[in-house]
Amino acid sequence: MLTAGQIHAQINAYISGLFLIHAPEGLYAPIDYVLSMGGKRIRSVLMLMAYNLYKEDVSEALAPAAGIEIFHNYTLLHDDLMDKADMRRGKKTVHKEWNENTAILSGDAMLILAYQYIAKASPAHLKEMLDLFGMTALEVCEGQQYDIDFEQQNNVTEQDYLKMIRLKTAVLLAASLKMGAIQGGASQQDADLLYESGIHIGQAFQLKDDFLDVYGDPAVFGKNTGGDILCNKKTYLMIKALELSDDTQKAELDRWMQMTTFNPEDKISAVVHIYNEAGVKTCCENKIREYYGNAMRCLEKISVEKEKKNELTDMIHDLMYRRN
Ligand code: IPE
Ligand code: IPE
Ligand code: MG
Ligand code: MG
Ligand code: MG
Repeated sequence: MLTAGQIHAQINAYISGLFLIHAPEGLYAPIDYVLSMGGKRIRSVLMLMAYNLYKEDVSEALAPAAGIEIFHNYTLLHDDLMDKADMRRGKKTVHKEWNENTAILSGDAMLILAYQYIAKASPAHLKEMLDLFGMTALEVCEGQQYDIDFEQQNNVTEQDYLKMIRLKTAVLLAASLKMGAIQGGASQQDADLLYESGIHIGQAFQLKDDFLDVYGDPAVFGKNTGGDILCNKKTYLMIKALELSDDTQKAELDRWMQMTTFNPEDKISAVVHIYNEAGVKTCCENKIREYYGNAMRCLEKISVEKEKKNELTDMIHDLMYRRN
């Protein structure tokens, strides 16, 4: 049984050993740039942890785990373009360091690379892996489209939001766990339970990301805060604020969301002020705890010894309290 730290070190070593720089450099250098700045590697680590519940040596699953990580990083290149985000992992985003076309095309190449690495999974499980990955990748696009559509809508409900984050974020964490289980030879029931727990982890993860986008420390978070407010993203915080605030505050939120020219700092501080008055910070923290609790309950039902699950439950706990 490996620790999360050992698994993290193995996937990092594997990814740094990929020779991703070829000609033309304009296509591959941004790929190397984004993959070499790390990030938390949660999806690949989750995949390998799930695999490790059933099989000791994770080396066979490293290529598909790298594939998942490359896929995740591809979504970030395009997401940062869509969200007009200038900073990620404490560095300039690809479209700022290079340009928008680079973020599009290097992102496209990464999506193809992701498939190539996932296709290195053992032939015994390949069809199931590719079916799940294909479905998941499409769902991520659906979630991203809802996220963008919701920027223009002021009647987004909590239920709409939870569906949107299930698609844009949670299904990838869930599929990572399930793909690890499939390769490890888990029973269908365990694989499904890991998927279900991954959905809860993923939803809690996106709730926390939205929380950190307002209340995080940019130096630790690695991204500029306030970006979601500037884009009129319908985050849990915004939806709750619209629900819980009085008529004056609600009108103020609407006014800021309609405004086309403004000083970004002014908009962020006005909206955060209403968030604080409406008490949405605690609402969001409670929701995060609720979802992590759900995830823990799914994990309990998995048919491997309790001690084997400790690494996974510790990791889920750490994710709940993360600051980046
Ligand atoms: C960022 O994911 C995108 C979201 C789904 C919130 P991560 O927070 O896992 O990003 P890195 O890879 O660790 O930078
Ligand atoms: C990201 O959501 C979801 C995907 C990348 C698919 P966000 O837009 O909140 O992620 P960050 O905050 O830019 O990392
Ligand atoms: Mg974004
Ligand atoms: Mg986004
Ligand atoms: Mg975010």
